[in-house]
Amino acid sequence: MSEEGVAPVAGPVVRPRRLRRTPALRRLVAETSVEPRQLVLPAFVREGIREPQPISSMPGVLQHTRDSLRKAAAEAAELGLGGIMLFGVPETKDATGSGAVDPAGILNLAINDVVAEVGDGLTVMSDLCLDEFTDHGHCGLLTPDGEVDNDKTLTAYAQMALAHAEAGVDMVGPSGMMDGQVAAIRGALDAAEHTGVSILAYSAKYASAFFGPFREAVESSLEGDRRTYQQDPPNALEGVREAILDIQQGADVVMVKPALAYLDVIRRVRDAVDVPVAAYNVSGEYAMVEAAAAHGWIDREAAILETLTSIRRAGADVVLTYWATEAARLLRR
Ligand code: PBG
Repeated sequence: MSEEGVAPVAGPVVRPRRLRRTPALRRLVAETSVEPRQLVLPAFVREGIREPQPISSMPGVLQHTRDSLRKAAAEAAELGLGGIMLFGVPETKDATGSGAVDPAGILNLAINDVVAEVGDGLTVMSDLCLDEFTDHGHCGLLTPDGEVDNDKTLTAYAQMALAHAEAGVDMVGPSGMMDGQVAAIRGALDAAEHTGVSILAYSAKYASAFFGPFREAVESSLEGDRRTYQQDPPNALEGVREAILDIQQGADVVMVKPALAYLDVIRRVRDAVDVPVAAYNVSGEYAMVEAAAAHGWIDREAAILETLTSIRRAGADVVLTYWATEAARLLRR
């Protein structure tokens, strides 16, 4: 007994803290890393504007002009990012989203511009979906009674894939969650001898509240929701099933989206498939961190890097993030 009447405690033999003692030790044993090559920058390009426009719910993100998009792509290539994912915001929208297949449509022009700017120095990807181009805001074509017509939409996606391929895209990203979309796109690309264009399938894409700010970014006119085609948040097995189906149809990379509320789905998909897995750190996840940081409630840069690390740790090989350019700079330091 010691003087205070407390028995002396034997020190632990195993001390995990030993490996946390210095920055060098922590670096040595870090299990996960984030590298610029693993990051993809999603970028918006809007038709008919002279100056880039801010997006109020996504501070720091812009709707680009064709010119400012080229510069952003050049910067992304210079920083060694893995890719850029392009979204078009057309001046006019219609029921069939005709701007999506028009070679002079804003997204097709932007693909052309960016490929001309960066060549093979950056993987150029395109969002392959109708919602940015339709006046009703749905990801597909509608039947006369307003339902999304799955199989008719497949034909539209196939045409869109060809337009993107003609514009020079490296990788198309079908994000509409129609059944059979990957097969339809792969078939159309191959029949037109675009066998080298790869497919990043938004496989496990959930009907999520975290897409909110994106709808402002693309000026979506959607009323109602996407719950008949995007996945129901309670379902994880279904996410794995969707990824496997997409691989069977020819997907080269599969994606889980959003990322933070679905880290378990990223892990399950990573463990179940043998192709690269991507995750999309979406607009609402970006906005939450930016809003809290603007209030001084969290350390912004630390929160950004911790977010990206957690998505990588969950199993994502590739991360789409609005912080891609900034994160690449932070990682260089
Ligand atoms: C559909 C698409 C969406 C996003 C990417 N592609 C919106 C949706 O499905 O409602 C969301 C991305 C984000 O929130 O950052 N074209």
